[in-house]
Amino acid sequence: FYYFTLPEQRFNLYPILEPFVKTTKKNVLFEIAWEICNQVGGIYTVIRTKVPAMVEKWEENYFLLGPYFEKKAASEFEVIHDLDDSPAGKTVKRMREMGYVVHYGFWLVTGKPRVILFDLESVAPQLDTIKFNLWEEHRISTINVDELVNQTLCFGEMVRVFLKEYAEDHAKREEIGAQFHEWMASSGLPSLKKDGVKIATTFTTHATMLGRYLAQNVDGFYSKLPFFDWEQEARNYGIVAQASVERQAAQSAHVLTTVSDVTAKECEVFLGRAPDLVTPNGLNVMRFQAVHEFQNLHLKYKDRIHEFVMGHFFPSYSFDLDKTLYFFTSGRYEFSNKGYDLTLEALARLNWKMVQANMDTTVVMFIVTKQPYTSINSDVLQSRAVLNELQETCTAIEKEVGEKLFLATASGTDHKMPDLNNFVDEYWRLRLRRTIQSWKTEKLPAFVTHDLKNGDGITEFCHKANLVNNERDRVKIVYHPDFIASTNPLFGLDYGQFVRGCHLGVFPSYYEPWGYTPLECVVRGVPTVTSDLSGFGDYIMQIMRDYENRGIYVINRKSQTYSQAADQMADLLFKFVKMQRRDRIMQRNRVENISEVFDWTNLRSYYDTAHDLASKRRKP
Ligand code: UDP
Ligand code: G6P
Ligand code: GLC
Repeated sequence: FYYFTLPEQRFNLYPILEPFVKTTKKNVLFEIAWEICNQVGGIYTVIRTKVPAMVEKWEENYFLLGPYFEKKAASEFEVIHDLDDSPAGKTVKRMREMGYVVHYGFWLVTGKPRVILFDLESVAPQLDTIKFNLWEEHRISTINVDELVNQTLCFGEMVRVFLKEYAEDHAKREEIGAQFHEWMASSGLPSLKKDGVKIATTFTTHATMLGRYLAQNVDGFYSKLPFFDWEQEARNYGIVAQASVERQAAQSAHVLTTVSDVTAKECEVFLGRAPDLVTPNGLNVMRFQAVHEFQNLHLKYKDRIHEFVMGHFFPSYSFDLDKTLYFFTSGRYEFSNKGYDLTLEALARLNWKMVQANMDTTVVMFIVTKQPYTSINSDVLQSRAVLNELQETCTAIEKEVGEKLFLATASGTDHKMPDLNNFVDEYWRLRLRRTIQSWKTEKLPAFVTHDLKNGDGITEFCHKANLVNNERDRVKIVYHPDFIASTNPLFGLDYGQFVRGCHLGVFPSYYEPWGYTPLECVVRGVPTVTSDLSGFGDYIMQIMRDYENRGIYVINRKSQTYSQAADQMADLLFKFVKMQRRDRIMQRNRVENISEVFDWTNLRSYYDTAHDLASKRRKP
């Protein structure tokens, strides 16, 4: 085409041709996070659940970059032994030649994306140089930081080298985008900008370091927010390195995004830049063909929780399981940020209300978090084992009685009812008697399932409020200081199944940029409590009017005092425990109906917009 045009026309035609030239370039996206193949909290959920929607758009031009930890990789990473000759494969090869240890393979999650994991040890000897450069080039001070920060610096450096190498080879033919999540992945971002590497960068922050610290430590954090001096506060809390990496990453990226309006305000103050847009979090929502399937699952998994509760409580005293409700809260241990303090306070008030009202309903509250422990409490394990034994013995007796009864009645001639006692032989009688004896105990049911290394805010509160599973209490506590996994002997459920078996998720956070846990309840048809200070709560209030009727209870923590919020919560929990089963079933239907709003096939578009904008800004 150029060949047939005169020189001056050639010049004039270029603006017309440019879009055409652009679209022939292949679009490639790298998504980078510390939590790829490495679950810590919600960022893992963001990326993992977003994969299918991303792969749908980017197909084979989508790669994830993460840190390599052997143990974690063992369960969710599959190596590709023969490096394919895809462009990314070539860059991996090049990095290996340069001496870095880089793993290339598939992340074994829905969508099975290709993932590149960096072995941080292989760059550790260069750590001093990396730190020197961060100081020399960006005035980021990283001396005397803890081991985790050192690891993130190694990760950031390997990401930087990879992207630089990749861009050098491919930027002519490809439109390259890089989506960074959080400071832990992003210490290389300022240098990518400084070196003019031809990649359109987006930085998404899922919290601010200073926000997390200050919210926990300063009363009235939100009203003081506009007045904090980031540098001074970073020094106060000994997080200068983290806060500086975060700030510079935010300022160096072509586009800055965060997960909610709540956190957007922090970005302005602590990162010195207002986000270009908010990218709300979604899930890979899978709804059942049969509308009521999720209700059946609730019943199925509730039965499993019943088993645990029988084993745990019934040796001490029993209550009516048909009138028992299961509440839970879960998440990393950030006592006040996650609202565990408010939850406990409201439960103590609820207990009082239920006792006063002489209710025969029981609430069992599960608190699921991660705290250091030595082992599962031996009494808890023992009663679980005895329950299993009881169940086995009863099943054996049932079988024996059934068979003998059948034989006796079929062969009997005297038309009399046989005496069932005669059908249980001595062995099983003795075994049952022994099991019953070791079943009963004088002790109160433990309110912590594990032997904790140290007491904490939760145990302290329960002791102080005497919320320690006394028989008369209507609210019982089961504090499980470990995340739930199907291999765990107490429940034998994975986290999602456990959520389904419960009646209500309780998450009245004080500091929560988004908060997946209530959303994960919604998509499973479980009503939930959230707060107006959490990104999710704030978002739902913006997009929906009748959220409370649909089973999303938003606690007002913005304008109420702590005690008022505890009252509001105790009142709504009290209302909830008085609901009839029929109403609970209908409410579950209404809450599950919201799911699709949060499907990534709808919410991915926010990320698409961010990436398009980054691309435009890279080449104004
Ligand atoms: N989670 C889990 N197992 C548990 C408890 C929690 O996998 O036993 C997950 C939960 O599914 C959620 C994540 O931990 O996806 C917590 O994310 P959230 O956004 O609520 O909080 P963050 O930890 O990121 O602050
Ligand atoms: C589901 C099941 C019903 C069951 C109900 C129990 O809806 O489909 O068969 O009765 O759960 O509800 P509840 O709120 O009492 O656990
Ligand atoms: C952060 C926040 C959490 C959010 C998650 C995913 O870790 O603490 O509120 O849900 O990231 O965006």
